[in-house]
Amino acid sequence: MTTDPTNPIALTAEQLDTFHRDGVLALPSRFSPDEVAGLVAALDELMADDVPENIREKTSGVVRSSFDLHRRHPLYARLVNDPRFVIPAHQILGDDPVYAMQVKVNAKEAFTGEQWQWHYDFATHHREDGLKEPIALNMHIFLDEVTEFNGPLMFVRGSHLDGPPPTELDTTTTSYPLWTVGPSVVGPLAERGGLVCPKGPAGTMLIFGDAVVHGSPPNMSPWSRRIFSLIVNPVSNRQTTFRRPAYIHDRDFTPLVARDEPLLASV
Ligand code: SIN
Ligand code: MN
Repeated sequence: MTTDPTNPIALTAEQLDTFHRDGVLALPSRFSPDEVAGLVAALDELMADDVPENIREKTSGVVRSSFDLHRRHPLYARLVNDPRFVIPAHQILGDDPVYAMQVKVNAKEAFTGEQWQWHYDFATHHREDGLKEPIALNMHIFLDEVTEFNGPLMFVRGSHLDGPPPTELDTTTTSYPLWTVGPSVVGPLAERGGLVCPKGPAGTMLIFGDAVVHGSPPNMSPWSRRIFSLIVNPVSNRQTTFRRPAYIHDRDFTPLVARDEPLLASV
């Protein structure tokens, strides 16, 4: 896999340092307005489906997360092999092949989007899927502008640095059971590292690590906050238990390969 540092898609040494230090990195303007419009149009169709892949909010019944998008639409199938994901992933993880382990949008619709409690993804990936190491990467694209009003993600900067913190299973707060991190753990980590809340226009990309603590408040605003999320994981760290459905954790471990043609080329 190419990791040519002269490639404009490649992360700079400073960006790599920020990722390793903070556990999260924001990359403005990575996807164009046309690309975002194409992804949103496809998503509107997919979210209208009455299928288990569309998980609904506990209170309103509105779609909270739509899973398995790469198996449900050709544009999302192309997206997972986008060089803007694959090249930075290999810069961070080395040359080991990676697979698309989870492909979804978290919708957090206007007025109805509910919170995500403090958590880190490896707690679920380890306990539910048997991943051994906290090295998977969560790569986001904002499909709407993300502001302080519409339920942005917050990260506890550097909360991954001492290894995965203690967790507890929450099955009651939202529609989706989650291994969460309690106040007595979040408090000191946040005092030490501070919080970071990346915001920006649609097309902004985020990359964050599997053990960095994050969460997000409800969306009380009149503006939706849809975020695409691709989790990539080295094939060498693939799942060893199969408790969750394949649409939540893909069982196809075929390595991702950076595509040459533009995302919107022939869909
Ligand atoms: C997540 O942590 O997986 C989702 C958080 C969010 O979409 O706000
Ligand atoms: Mn998460």
